[in-house]
Amino acid sequence: KVVQSEIDKINTHAEDPRAKMTEREMQGFAKLFGRYLRERSTKKKLDWNLIESPSTDLVKPYSSLPSCESSESTKLLKKLAVLKLNGGLGTTMGCTGPKSVIEVRGETTFLDLIVQQIEHINKKYPEANVPLLLMNSFNTDADTAKIIKKYQDTQVTIMTFQQSRYPRILKDSLQPMPLAHSNYSHEDWYPPGHGDLFESIESTGIIDTLLAQGKEYLFVSNVDNLGATVDLNILKMIEDSKCEFCMELTDKTRADIKGGTLISYDGHVTLLEVAQVPKEHIEEFKSVKKFKVFNTNNIWLNLRAVKRLVKGGNMDLDIIANTKSVGDQKVIQLETAVGSAIRYFGNARGVNVPRSRFLPVKSTSDLLLVQSSLYTLKSGTLVPNPLREFATTPVVKLGPEFQKVGEYNARFETIPDLLELDHLTVSGDVSFGSNVSLKGTVIIVASRGNKIMIPSGSVLENKILSGNLYI
Ligand code: UTP
Repeated sequence: KVVQSEIDKINTHAEDPRAKMTEREMQGFAKLFGRYLRERSTKKKLDWNLIESPSTDLVKPYSSLPSCESSESTKLLKKLAVLKLNGGLGTTMGCTGPKSVIEVRGETTFLDLIVQQIEHINKKYPEANVPLLLMNSFNTDADTAKIIKKYQDTQVTIMTFQQSRYPRILKDSLQPMPLAHSNYSHEDWYPPGHGDLFESIESTGIIDTLLAQGKEYLFVSNVDNLGATVDLNILKMIEDSKCEFCMELTDKTRADIKGGTLISYDGHVTLLEVAQVPKEHIEEFKSVKKFKVFNTNNIWLNLRAVKRLVKGGNMDLDIIANTKSVGDQKVIQLETAVGSAIRYFGNARGVNVPRSRFLPVKSTSDLLLVQSSLYTLKSGTLVPNPLREFATTPVVKLGPEFQKVGEYNARFETIPDLLELDHLTVSGDVSFGSNVSLKGTVIIVASRGNKIMIPSGSVLENKILSGNLYI
């Protein structure tokens, strides 16, 4: 009740219409905040002894899935819609606006590639009419509306909707931030994670619209995962096995310590995230021995099941309480993740997919890989270059001087050839000329005050360069 009255105050307190919440947001936030306060004191800790690795029935290897015959493709695709989680900004890579408009291959953006992929499907299977949905946040909605105009002549129907916007909470007083001052402030608000998808597609009428079009399945993925393409074998498995929720997982390497993993817990399948792991088991969680796969956030949902569960009102997703600093104040934002819903769905399972289905671009180091000749582009899909002789992707670590896309672009005259690269570390004020080739392990370190320029046409193989090499 106290929570409800605090939330009610937000709208009466708001002088600026931008500081008002919709009815749906008020209800959703009241439920989340209320649960957070209750669970803080009562939530049972995870019993580590009840955790079991999922059976191969629960997480099927991709190679064990029956192939989808071409005669079945149209029938299956007619039931499919694709959704990209588009709430995030490109701030980490120094860009303003939605992350999806960062250029990833030449002048082609994440969104351009996605539209190309779906258009390719719709041209190849003219009856399929696979629509593209974009779940925007209040941070990305207006910009996205402008950007998608350029796709109006393509063979892809694009639908957008805005996910909820919730108030941040002051950590000390637990008071919603908009109550702390009278003016509207953007910093008072946040999008509550992609777990908000379920409520949002139900309350905006998206599920009903899709069902009316004959759509039954929704393929959800992060907008920055270039490997998240429509896969007919997975779609067929879902249809054949009446699986209501399918999570794509992939083999963990030492670099993938963050992602959640699927476990059997007390008899049911559930997602285990690092935040839930007791301190004494963190190392075990991160190791690749016990937890061999992690969640790619490529998720396939049965739309009727989502509707049933949201209407039932019992889908309490795990709350991730994210602490941030706004000015000199500590604030909490309560978020949920789409993957944690798995335990509520019937016949839920995972598929262990090849790494090529997880190609996220989180940093300019990732960008360098996807822009290079390690991949070729086919109908909007990045295909690993068969000329690379190793199955692994090189490890690239570019220093802070490369962090922003603008600076990164200025430091490469052209993208170096990485076909034979294993490992690249670059630190300091380093620039590359055109047609440089990097092979094996290459480490380039320009110490403070120094500058290194790699001349056009250089071939660096198993080299360490340091100091001041301005040639
Ligand atoms: P995350 O912020 O969960 O990213 O967004 P991540 O994969 O864990 O990445 P890092 O490690 O923090 O960089 C995953 C996807 O979900 C969208 C983002 O735009 C991104 O495509 N997202 C996230 C939303 O659409 N809404 C949200 O509230 C949060």
